[in-house]
Amino acid sequence: MTHPLIERLGIDLPILQAPMAGVSSPAMAAAVSEAGGLGALGVAMAGVAGAQAMIGAVRARSNRAFNVNVFVHTPPRRDAAREAGWIDHWRPTFAEFGAEPPAALDNINTSFAIDDAMLAMLLAERPAVVSFHFGLPDSARIAALRAAGVTLLATVTSLAEARAAETAGIDAIVAQGWEAGGHRGLFDPDGDDARLGTMALVRVLARQCALPVIAAGGIMDGAGIDAVRRLGAVAAQLGTAYIACDESLADAGYRTALASEAAHQTTMTRAISGRPARCLANRFTSASRNIAADAIPAYPVAYDLGKALAAAAKAGGETGFGAQWAGQGAPLARAMPAAELTRTLASEMRT
Ligand SMILES: Cc1cc2nc3c(=O)[nH]c(=O)nc-3n(C[C@H](O)[C@H](O)[C@H](O)COP(=O)(O)O)c2cc1C
Repeated sequence: MTHPLIERLGIDLPILQAPMAGVSSPAMAAAVSEAGGLGALGVAMAGVAGAQAMIGAVRARSNRAFNVNVFVHTPPRRDAAREAGWIDHWRPTFAEFGAEPPAALDNINTSFAIDDAMLAMLLAERPAVVSFHFGLPDSARIAALRAAGVTLLATVTSLAEARAAETAGIDAIVAQGWEAGGHRGLFDPDGDDARLGTMALVRVLARQCALPVIAAGGIMDGAGIDAVRRLGAVAAQLGTAYIACDESLADAGYRTALASEAAHQTTMTRAISGRPARCLANRFTSASRNIAADAIPAYPVAYDLGKALAAAAKAGGETGFGAQWAGQGAPLARAMPAAELTRTLASEMRT
């Protein structure tokens, strides 16, 4: 029996491709949606014009539903001394590649919490689904999107965040376990994090929250999808499983690392962007292992340096400073076209 959410999302399979800013692409989103899942765009770093172009690029390939994902983080509290200290900390590493760190750091992406232009664009384009990561927008923004007929999803990592989403009028929650690749969706990165794994989180939310649950974190194949549905999830959202797909924007260094021993050693770090995120073990994660959280500038100010360091190192032939996000299921990633992976996942499911 099909769950009403699946019908509302307009999909044939209980499979959502995770929005992955910088890694997923319009071609990937269209391919997954055409194969019967829900494709997604991660537009958090794209700006309004870039996001609109990405939406147009999906629509040029498919008229099926897809998800557009934005970040709703608390805008960063700037701290000049901390930012200067952070630049100095990494100066010797830049020097290793014959480069200088940036003289100052920027707030490199606008939170959807305050981005009126992004809201206006989404209301004009009306994608079938919009999803929120890092928190929830205010009630006026939620009401406007709902009135435009958009189905709303939000990442949550705890029962408290799930209840906040329910109160705010979100349609379904993406329950993101500690295993998950990429940024942890935590509303408050400085608050207590119970670090619930996907199994416990999905079950708690399925039992104690009225919203439909979409499970995320460590799900790599049909067996994983079956398992979370047995726990009460309506569908599964997979990120890491899609990184090695043909349509992914992951560069050669990232793909090589994903296929290497590093996949067995993912690590949660906030040094790359300023927020906790799970990454393949690489030079950036090992060089920042013992850094205190209060030395790191707020998200996304730290990310400005992280991206500059990745670019400087890559220009010097070292790809190990990239934001090579991946979940604990990384050793199970498969390289194939996204539509084929979606169909393979469906064929592996038993239920
Ligand atoms: C490379 C990568 C980028 C990600 N970027 C985003 C993003 O832009 N927005 C978002 O809501 N989640 C993002 N995530 C998290 C996913 O939505 C999801 O929670 C996660 O991929 C699930 O765990 P898995 O990677 O083990 O499948 C990202 C994950 C990865 C691996």
